[in-house]
Amino acid sequence: MSLPSAPDQPLVTGTVRDVPAGPADSAGPAAPVAPAGPVVLDCQQVERRFGGLVALTGVDLQVRRGEIFGLVGPNGSGKTTLTNAITGFYPPQKGRITLAGRDITGMAPHAVARLGVARTFQNLALFNGMTVLDNILLGRHVHMKPSVWRTALYPWLARPEETLHRRIVEDIIDFMQLQGVRDELVDAIPIGLKKRVELARALVAEPSFLILDEPMAGMNQEEKEYMARFVLDARDERGVTVLLIEHHMDIITGICDRMLVLSYGEVIDTGVPREVVKNPRVIKAYLGGARAEA
Ligand SMILES: Nc1ncnc2c1ncn2[C@@H]1O[C@H](COP(=O)(O)OP(=O)(O)O)[C@@H](O)[C@H]1O
Ligand SMILES: [Mg+2]
Repeated sequence: MSLPSAPDQPLVTGTVRDVPAGPADSAGPAAPVAPAGPVVLDCQQVERRFGGLVALTGVDLQVRRGEIFGLVGPNGSGKTTLTNAITGFYPPQKGRITLAGRDITGMAPHAVARLGVARTFQNLALFNGMTVLDNILLGRHVHMKPSVWRTALYPWLARPEETLHRRIVEDIIDFMQLQGVRDELVDAIPIGLKKRVELARALVAEPSFLILDEPMAGMNQEEKEYMARFVLDARDERGVTVLLIEHHMDIITGICDRMLVLSYGEVIDTGVPREVVKNPRVIKAYLGGARAEA
């Protein structure tokens, strides 16, 4: 297992507020080449309202297999709502969402998870009072076949299954470089590591599609670059397609193949990051359009 290396070159070249209005080709690392995989996630005309509030309207989003796809927008623009619509937590009232050609609109979260979609939450959803290891092990539940009778009557069947779960968990702990804190209570570790534990818990589900809701929030620069490297390695070494919600445009331009910008629940641009960040509407949305955090 290759360990994620600290990036030689900083992935970061500035924040979205620094995006120059003019040509910006010289700035930042070379944009990744968009892989030409088939569309795996297809959202068409998605709408979600909360009472009178239109959180999403007419949202079209296509993510191709093998992409790291950036989803950005000011606070309150609907990013988390879109992930909740995809993963079944808040089904859309209008529109259609398909995953690998299968209609998942309105499907329950556990059913979406069984189709290979894993996610992390903007506000961490870890279990305090439990160790890092046990929190990560919980990510395997999607593959567990719980049966009291089976376990009681056929321990020789249950044991190999548990051994397999443990092996995958240990592999991911290694991959995410969490060996040093595996037996710590999750409450006791800093926010940067908690975010890593959440990503580890998502990865042990062996997803084909991973949704990360601001996995770098609250991190310092070094931690962010490490996290960016883990996301890249998850795609490159594990073949996971990634939908990444991220505020820092430098991260988006550094690791995303394509991106989409939401503002007030509508798509204002989508495409290759180095083009999208030059769009005056995108710059304006960031400079002037931010709402208060929901
Ligand atoms: N469960 C909810 N009930 C009511 N309003 C919500 C709910 N979830 C989100 N919203 C509203 O929908 C809008 C989009 O929120 P959200 O998707 O969290 O934005 P973002 O993730 O881009 O910051 C906000 O105005 C927010 O207040
Ligand atoms: Mg959000």
